[in-house]
Amino acid sequence: MTFRLAQISDTHLSDRVPGFRANFDLLAEHLRAARPDLVINTGDISLDGADRAEDLAFAREAHEELGLDLLALPGNHDVGDDPLPDCRQPADAERLTRWRAQLGPDTFVRDVPGWRLIGLNTQITATSHPEAEEQMEMLVRALHGTAGRAVAVFMHKPLCQERMEETDSTYWCVQPAPRHRLFNLLLPQRPAFVASGHVHQWRDRGVCQGLRQIWAPSVAFIVGDAWQETAGEKTVGFVEHLLHPDGSFETRVVSLPHLTRHDIGEMPEIYGPQRRLAA
Ligand SMILES: [Fe+2]
Ligand SMILES: [Fe+2]
Repeated sequence: MTFRLAQISDTHLSDRVPGFRANFDLLAEHLRAARPDLVINTGDISLDGADRAEDLAFAREAHEELGLDLLALPGNHDVGDDPLPDCRQPADAERLTRWRAQLGPDTFVRDVPGWRLIGLNTQITATSHPEAEEQMEMLVRALHGTAGRAVAVFMHKPLCQERMEETDSTYWCVQPAPRHRLFNLLLPQRPAFVASGHVHQWRDRGVCQGLRQIWAPSVAFIVGDAWQETAGEKTVGFVEHLLHPDGSFETRVVSLPHLTRHDIGEMPEIYGPQRRLAA
């Protein structure tokens, strides 16, 4: 039997932004009818869980109302971020504890027919938190005990923007040092795909440098062209992965037409004014 997995991402839920909740409710209606075997939220489940436990609780309750099996991974707006020069909310012990209290573990290994699904927390990979090293050890164990299963990896941030050799530390990707470490662990095991969120764009360019990287769009909003380069497709929706027991799979974006394509650049009251791209 094919395992039907719905990857949703960047729901940015809070009682303070009804428009994002409205998009989630429309998605929820679709998912309750489609009844996938599992829902994975690849992070930024909340608007500002990094500073407000209420947002994490609101997001958890909204997801519980789906009545579906759910796994959730943290994003920068949920637990803070790896150290970056202008990082306002570093991922710290308090934030990680708050996530676990509301959403449970920040990583997972789940076996389904013919597949092993591995979830990672990309928000701590460049920190000195003990969980960062424990996560790497967990990944090594998970990759080596698959018993012939195909492997799919889920995370909030993509490994890279275009190429694994990138040396810039940017807001949009895993930092260079942990990226190389993860890439070197993953590549020899040939995962079927690595699926992420965070960029708020849909992208699937097939296998590149030995890895197929799939970007899920946000459920809540896009970042308009004045503020963010286009690297994929700026849509709102979710990703459906059909995992067959023989390790083959199909992936497609589902752009629900009745979702509102909010542009965060036009909503400075939420995260402040976005930085404009150079003309
Ligand atoms: Fe996001
Ligand atoms: Fe994010």
